[in-house]
Order: sequence, then structure tokens, then C-alpha cells
Amino acid sequence: MSDAALRVLGFESSCDETGVAIVNTHGEVLGQALHSQIAMHKDYGGVVPELASRDHIKRLEPLLAATLKQANLTLQDMDALAVTTGPGLPGALLSGACFAYGLAMSLNKPIIAVHHLEGHLLSPLLSARPPAFPFTALLVSGGHSQLMGVQALGQYTLLGETLDDAAGEAFDKTAKMMGLSYPGGPALAALAEQGDATRFALPRPMLHSGDFNFSFSGLKTAVLTTAMKLTGHAKAQESFELSAQDRCDLAASFQAAVIEVLVSKAIKAARAAGHKRLVVAGGVGANKGLRQVLTQTAAKYGIDVYFPELALCTDNGAMIAFAGALHLKANPALLQEKNYSIETKPRWPICEGLPQT
Ligand code: KG4
Ligand code: ZN
Repeated sequence: MSDAALRVLGFESSCDETGVAIVNTHGEVLGQALHSQIAMHKDYGGVVPELASRDHIKRLEPLLAATLKQANLTLQDMDALAVTTGPGLPGALLSGACFAYGLAMSLNKPIIAVHHLEGHLLSPLLSARPPAFPFTALLVSGGHSQLMGVQALGQYTLLGETLDDAAGEAFDKTAKMMGLSYPGGPALAALAEQGDATRFALPRPMLHSGDFNFSFSGLKTAVLTTAMKLTGHAKAQESFELSAQDRCDLAASFQAAVIEVLVSKAIKAARAAGHKRLVVAGGVGANKGLRQVLTQTAAKYGIDVYFPELALCTDNGAMIAFAGALHLKANPALLQEKNYSIETKPRWPICEGLPQT
């Protein structure tokens, strides 16, 4: 295949962010636009799937126009389209997939179905210091906490995952208990920076379980009982009115527990796989404390840690367009494929049915 870069127009709408981007097969982001629905879902304390789907439909076209304008390109300049087809909220996935497949069909261009987590997994390759294959990936988002062995593009092995709440979900639920609004992860992290992480001895669930699985729901319960003690409530509340100091210290203690477990398991997994590179992706990858502790601890074992750019940690269109571009580069025959039957997979294990290139 020639060195000329091919352009892929990618769409993301699996949860509460609508993302559109154009990325070429050289890994250059030519244009991107994003709309977060956080403000809309805030009043409900979490994502309302029906509202999410409707909003994606409303945003996709204007975001596409903004992306093309930023890139100074037209739809005809695209070589292929890519769209998240799973996993995610059924209606939200369908909104983006129907839009993207309809567009691809009208343009008579190929379209590549992208696994949302593969998008996250490959997003550090878009950064100024991209990791080489193979690597171990710690995928920590609002919906997933997984450790993956990444041998090459499309060759992923699930090493371990959460048995209950995802790391981001644990951050969000704990933040809600502390009276922070949805999604509380970033706000809790900001409070944690001002708190004393040693004040409350919270559990480190499954730290010594001997596998690479996680569990965060017990930690959430420990925060609940601590908050009950601090406020004198005999019963569980949806949220507690804690003093400013208690809030910061509890946030710091909670964050330290999550970080210790994530760091310990990620490093053990990388060492067991014989990988010298560890990649962190997903929304919780934006957490400064996690970035610091992981980088420092991994260095002791001669392991290099790679993160996506901060803006590419949470959901976005660039990671989907990029995953599509990498598959296109590895398998140029995809350019000839014109299959427009839509199949979204709200539940889709990452090791199953990915394009083999
Ligand atoms: O990857 P993402 O945008 O969405 C999913 O695919 O789930 O991740 C969103 C999650 C939310 O739970 C959010 O609270 C969490 O990432 N998050 C953080 C931080 N920034 C985002 N959690 C901890 N610290 C942060 N700085
Ligand atoms: Zn995500």
C-alpha cells in the first residue's frame, strides 16, 4: 500500500458524549468536535438513556459540519467512515450507527464498525509519545474496568475485569454520597488533592486475590458507613452533608484505595505478561493521582507507562476514527467493502468478533 494517508470520518455516541472526528492513517487528527450531555443528565444524577439517544440525533449533524469545517475538507474527501457499534446504551448506539451507515451509503463509501473499548485502548497511540506493541492496557472508564494484553492491532486478551462496579462508576457513586453532582469522578479527584489520604483506613478490595480481577462495591459501602459515622446517621442516605475537611479526607482516602488496587494489579499483569509497556485508557485515566502513582511504581520495575492526551481519555470521536484508520491501514481490502446492514451490540466482549487484520 502507498504511503498516501487515507482519511477516516469517525462517530462516537455510545453513552453521553457525541463525538465526530477525521483522523488519517498517519494518526493525524484533522478535525474533531464533541458535545458532552453531562449538563442535561445532571439533574437526574446519571445518564437517562432515552434523553441521550434523542440528544445524539440532534447533535450529530452540527458536529459533523463543525468537524469538516475545522479540517477544511468535504465528505467527498473521506476514504471511509467508522462508527462505534458497541458496547454501550442500545438507543445511543443506534442513533450514531443509523446516522453513520446512512451517510456512508449515500456517499457510497465503506464503513468500519468499531468496538468502543478498542477505541479507548488504542487512543494512547495518538499521543506525542505512542507506545509500541505489545503492551498491557488498564482500561478504566465509567462502564468498564479491565486489564488487557494487547499483542497487536485486533489481538487482545482479557486478563481480568471488575466483578461489580467499574472504577469510574465507583468514583461517581462515592461522589454522589458526598453530595457532588454527576459525574462526580473529576470533582471527587479535585477534593482528594486537598485531603489526607491516611485519615480513613478503607479496604483495598481483592488486592491479594491472586488474579487480575477487581471489585469496587465493598469500597463504596465502606465509604457509606464512614459517612454515616461522621454525620451520626443510623441509616444510609443518598448523600451526606459532610464538613469540608471530612469531604476532602474521605475523597483522598477513597481515591488512594482505588489507586493502590489499580496500580498493584496493572503492574502484576504487565509483569506476568512480560510487557515493558503499560497503557492506561478510559475516563479514570485522566486522574492525576493514578497517573503519578502508576508512573512512579512502574518505573521501579522498568515498566514505561503511556497515557492518552487528557482530552482523549474520556469518550470522543477521534479514538473511533483512529481505530477505523488503523484497521483500514492494516487491511486495505476494507476500502472495497460496502456492507450497510447495521448491527449494534450493546454487550460486546472485546475479545470476541473484532476485525482480524
Ligand atoms: O471513558 P469515559 O468517558 O466513559 C465511559 O466509556 O464510561 O469515562 C467516564 C468516567 C466517569 O465515571 C468519570 O467520573 C470518570 O471517567 N472520570 C474520572 C476522572 N475524570 C473522569 N474519575 C476519576 N478521576 C478523574 N479525574
Ligand atoms: Zn468510554
